[in-house]
Amino acid sequence: MTDEARPYGGGTSDPSLKRVRTRHFQRAKQQGIKITGLTSYDFLTASIFDEAGVDFLLVGDSAGNTVFGYDTTIPVTLDELIPLTAAVVRGVNRALVVADMPFGSYENGPDEALHTAIRFMKETGAHAVKLEGGVRSAKQIKRVVRAGIPVMAHIGFTPQSEHGLGGHIIQGRGEEGAEQLLDDARAVEAAGAFAVVLEMVPSEIAGRVTAELSIPTISVGAGPSCDGQLLVWSDWAGLSRGRIPRFVKQYAQIGETLLAAAKEFCADVESGGYPLAEHEYAE
Ligand code: KIV
Repeated sequence: MTDEARPYGGGTSDPSLKRVRTRHFQRAKQQGIKITGLTSYDFLTASIFDEAGVDFLLVGDSAGNTVFGYDTTIPVTLDELIPLTAAVVRGVNRALVVADMPFGSYENGPDEALHTAIRFMKETGAHAVKLEGGVRSAKQIKRVVRAGIPVMAHIGFTPQSEHGLGGHIIQGRGEEGAEQLLDDARAVEAAGAFAVVLEMVPSEIAGRVTAELSIPTISVGAGPSCDGQLLVWSDWAGLSRGRIPRFVKQYAQIGETLLAAAKEFCADVESGGYPLAEHEYAE
């Protein structure tokens, strides 16, 4: 796709580097232009992904795994995510930054959800928030949207409920599963979400949701018919260790590169290969 074909500019070749706004998500869906998203948790990756023209950066609660080393996303807190989100905001000129509301920061109801969303907006400069759940989170979404804060919804497999769901299980399978997913999708759209993430959903049912909704659907393992694609950057770039979900295409092998570089550094220092004269300061 050429930059000219994108309705809101296209990354580095767009000299005006206009800000991506939620209304551009809507326009992209209407014009059949795919929306791109990656997670980011720090200033440097945010500035690189922004320069590349990635449309939105999600400061995901996946930081619980990738930054803090927890086994699941459940332990990560709002206070841990706020400085990461602020760093990502400082790294972008163009991309829309979405702050992920962590487990325990909105389940108690609309007041709690609004309190959390306001903290993200005031303390980080994020442009939108994301929260998990369809029908069960509709009241929270409505309250946050009414306060003027854009909400990206997240249905299908919702990692914060992994114990309730019985593990990392594909959602929306079978007629009952499909109906439940469609109900969730309708509920978040009616509550005012500007987009909805569909995670680990069969492509066919994701296609049905995408066709029915007027807001864009963003796939995380929900196939090609969604209006956009989002991946966890450390999986996508080959930095994560361990099992990578089948839906991820790895675009680099940063982990291997760093491992080799660190080994070479150790060997150099031990053998006197670093530092050399060119790395020294004269008096
Ligand atoms: O936290 C995260 O990275 C996410 C995406 C996987 C959707 O919620």
